[in-house]
Amino acid sequence: MDIKKHPFGQIDDTTLVDLYKLTNLNGMAVGITNYGATLVAVTVADRRGNPADVILGYDSLADYINGSNYFGCIAGRYANRIAGGRFELNQIPYLLAQNDGGNHLHGGIRGFGKAVWQAREMENHDSLGLALTYLSQDGEEGYPGNLSITVIYTLTNKNELRIDYNATTDKPTVVNLTNHAYFNLAGAGSGDILDHELMINADRFTPVDASLIPTGELRSVKDTPLDFTRPMIIGARIDQDHEQLLIAKGYDHNWVLKKDTDGPCLAARAFERKSGRTLEVYTTQPGIQFYSGNFMENGIAGKTGQVYHHRGGFCLETQHFPNSPNQPNFPSTILDPGAIYEHTTIYRFSAAGGPPV
Ligand code: BGC
Repeated sequence: MDIKKHPFGQIDDTTLVDLYKLTNLNGMAVGITNYGATLVAVTVADRRGNPADVILGYDSLADYINGSNYFGCIAGRYANRIAGGRFELNQIPYLLAQNDGGNHLHGGIRGFGKAVWQAREMENHDSLGLALTYLSQDGEEGYPGNLSITVIYTLTNKNELRIDYNATTDKPTVVNLTNHAYFNLAGAGSGDILDHELMINADRFTPVDASLIPTGELRSVKDTPLDFTRPMIIGARIDQDHEQLLIAKGYDHNWVLKKDTDGPCLAARAFERKSGRTLEVYTTQPGIQFYSGNFMENGIAGKTGQVYHHRGGFCLETQHFPNSPNQPNFPSTILDPGAIYEHTTIYRFSAAGGPPV
């Protein structure tokens, strides 16, 4: 196991940004930068032992600064949408940036994915980690309270990438943190993700209105193209004439996860037939946003000269439900002083027929 730090660039005269590369005993490697606490690369073997990077991203810090797809970053203070950028907490109204039409998306104009975090390397008995911390000021992007956040990425020798989220506040606020990695298990830049197979461990989802805000209903997936209770090819139904798919131009919805323990539960499993790569997602969160890259423009200049196109990656964003601050019937996203926000998500990689890990 090995952890290496390289300079990744500079924001101004004093703010240096680094890229950390963590490698486990199987040769699986993970790249993380402290700019946006962003996952830059995940290189993992296919069934024949050939490695490929399965995460979309950029080569340069400048591209991360200018990019608008949230590649691999930590989204927050509130990942996903808040209707109209408005909510009330203890009878006090708050107004956030309206950076997605009239709505607030992924924490605003300068969300956590555009912040510089402090990094600390961690070497454990059977894993390597990178702890990233950020202090989000009271009033930043319109949110109340100084919020102190720690995100720990841990790479284990079981080919798991674990993300532990922790936050505390000094005033009541709302928090919803996720990682916004785009996966392509055939390798980033190798085409679209429509032939991946996906299972989502959920029999309900939160339907959305025309601006992608949940209506408040928890609707059964049965007899809809959003039914992934059994593994289904992503592209098989994505362009069906279904009201929810037409609104989102594909999949861009929150599924209500089935839970059997308080610990991380299986949320989703994605499989790519040619490489044999499988990704399993476990989480303590109540929901998952499956986003099929519908708003990715064609011709994005990605890592190592690769070009990414429409639906060139998919996201599995573990989260609380979108717009929860305005939906009292959704699980609460309020964090009060003295309480601790804590969540864990695990991405586990394997290759069917490949070497056991
Ligand atoms: C959202 C999409 C949005 C995308 C931006 C996803 O999390 O669900 O609607 O376009 O982020 O990259």
